[in-house]
Amino acid sequence: MNDTSAACIKTMQKNTSVLIVDDKLKLCRSLAENFETLGYQCEIATDGAAAMEFFRSTGIDAAIVDVRLDAESGVHLLETMKTLDPTVPVIMMTAYAEIDSAVESIKKGAFDYVQKPIAFDHLVEVLENAIRVSQVQKARAGEGAPRPERSSTDNLVTQDPALLEVIDKAERVADTDLPILILGESGTGKELLAEFVHARSRYRDHEMIRVNCSAFQESLIDSELFGYQKGSFTGADDTFPGVFERAHNSTLFLDEIGDMHLATQTRILRTLQDLQFRRVGGSETLSTRFRLITATNKSLDTMLSTQEFREDLFYRLNTVTLQLPPLRDRKDDIPLLINDFLSRFFTRDKTPTLQIDQTVMDALMCHFWPGNIRELKNVVEYAAAICRTGTIKLTDLPHSFTAGALAHTGSTPECANVRERMERDLIQSTLARFHRNKSRTAEYLGMTRKTLYDKIKKYGLS
Ligand SMILES: Nc1ncnc2c1ncn2[C@@H]1O[C@H](COP(=O)(O)OP(=O)(O)OP(=O)(O)O)[C@@H](O)[C@H]1O
Ligand SMILES: [Mg+2]
Repeated sequence: MNDTSAACIKTMQKNTSVLIVDDKLKLCRSLAENFETLGYQCEIATDGAAAMEFFRSTGIDAAIVDVRLDAESGVHLLETMKTLDPTVPVIMMTAYAEIDSAVESIKKGAFDYVQKPIAFDHLVEVLENAIRVSQVQKARAGEGAPRPERSSTDNLVTQDPALLEVIDKAERVADTDLPILILGESGTGKELLAEFVHARSRYRDHEMIRVNCSAFQESLIDSELFGYQKGSFTGADDTFPGVFERAHNSTLFLDEIGDMHLATQTRILRTLQDLQFRRVGGSETLSTRFRLITATNKSLDTMLSTQEFREDLFYRLNTVTLQLPPLRDRKDDIPLLINDFLSRFFTRDKTPTLQIDQTVMDALMCHFWPGNIRELKNVVEYAAAICRTGTIKLTDLPHSFTAGALAHTGSTPECANVRERMERDLIQSTLARFHRNKSRTAEYLGMTRKTLYDKIKKYGLS
């Protein structure tokens, strides 16, 4: 390892490369040294910018990121990584009190989280699982052809009456130019529904232009939205078409519209009204025509009342509103979605007859699903990749899921029972997995040895 205090340090070579990001250099070094003894190649970054430099330039296989980086959020770094390359698994490190950030990061696509102080054995186990799952996912993406052909309608799996009604409404307005506002919690399928509408619109032969409004850099907004004219500023070597220009004769999907700054809201309002704009440094007024779809998981009503969202812009966006229900309100869809993910996860020739243990199914049915369908998809794909027998068991589920499920008592008596059964089965199988080593079992399950002993007694597992 190079001993500079610079933010990035490259360590010795081996097959799998892991990026460790924590503002405490000492912790990074100690983790890197431990991983290196196992044959991993480690990169260290002590801030987000350095981490992204590595992420972009080096082929990273996995990243381990502290939730609370000095001066910035690890969750934000996670989001940037996931936008750039969703196939690289990211594991978050959290302190005990940061459970909310841990849940937030799972919603944003983190593979799992581990609590500080770090139990290295457990971290290795999580990392190995992460790499195994990502390898299966990459292999599956590379296979391409054997996967069954699907239209966007097939992708929207549901039998829920409320969601079917939303889909029906989307279908009816798809071929008009009416602006659509899609509302729903994170992971409920807003982008999928936007694709569904675009695929049935008169613009379906053109690419839908997607813009994530939360990713706008304040200083670059005008260039991003309106484009710029060659020579209009140093570095503008060519004329660049902005979002409004590229969306001409297509669908413009403005995602996370609730994260758009007020100043940007004002900028786009005029163009949405007149369908005209000028490139930065340009003198010509250009016309454009597109179908506008916007989406957010924020409550725009609240933002209107606190004046964080412009009322005039709101009324321009919401001619048609499509509200996606959270997964917890349509639990009958869970088995359907699981089947769909499993069939998509495995190629046709390799389709295994994977069964799901009843305790697992009960636990999935009783879970609160804060990350909605994305969270369910991650859990299922993880379990399918980890499962070594023909049946998915509780111990095949990601640690973040089981720990979360055990931490929350079910909201109904039925769920409370499921929780107890699940806890019993999980303790039993984890004890077997660690050859009845109580310390490792307690550590894996995130409980003290005393609690574990009490539960062993309660469930008659001694
Ligand atoms: N009805 C559905 N049937 C099958 N898969 C679905 C369905 N809805 C969503 N998904 C899948 O769930 C994942 C999340 O969907 P999507 O990205 O559209 O959600 P989102 O609401 O835009 O999330 P976010 O707010 O986090 O951006 C995607 O992998 C998507 O394919
Ligand atoms: Mg989205």
